[in-house]
Amino acid sequence: MGFFPWTLRKIYQIIRSKMEQLISKLKQFQADSVVFYSTTHGFHWNVEGVLFTQYHAFFKEVYEDVYSTLDVIAEYLRKYDEYAPFALSEFMANARITEVRLQSTSPTTMAATLLGMNNIMLETIKDLFKTTQPLQEQGLANFLAERQDKHQFWGWWLRSSLREAIN
Ligand SMILES: [Fe+2]
Repeated sequence: MGFFPWTLRKIYQIIRSKMEQLISKLKQFQADSVVFYSTTHGFHWNVEGVLFTQYHAFFKEVYEDVYSTLDVIAEYLRKYDEYAPFALSEFMANARITEVRLQSTSPTTMAATLLGMNNIMLETIKDLFKTTQPLQEQGLANFLAERQDKHQFWGWWLRSSLREAIN
């Protein structure tokens, strides 16, 4: 000890613990994104009914959007000198979103399930955003602000698809 003056060592410990919080939330965001992506792709495959064409296309738009973020999220982990998880069991351990299996092929049941998952995605993004602020990680914060916007957009589409139209 005595390597750093007390205050410097304290500052170093605070920064390291803030970085650990950021990395843990980033891994949760990665895992939630994988579960959300995988569920949406599965709904794209299995949806049935008179609205098949619309929902098949809608789910595709959503899963392609979320899939496009997986590489970016993993590379943020590498930028922070952390290895990026890739085993499905790691994603299951890190995710806040609970995975589902096919319980209904109804588009509205699927949309309701996705809306619930989308709300959790928004919470995860906001929690992670908070951890970027004390560290002034503006690049990640900027990416997350865009993702929050996009998931709010998907939330609007999902909610609207579940409502009765006013005639
Ligand atoms: Fe397809």
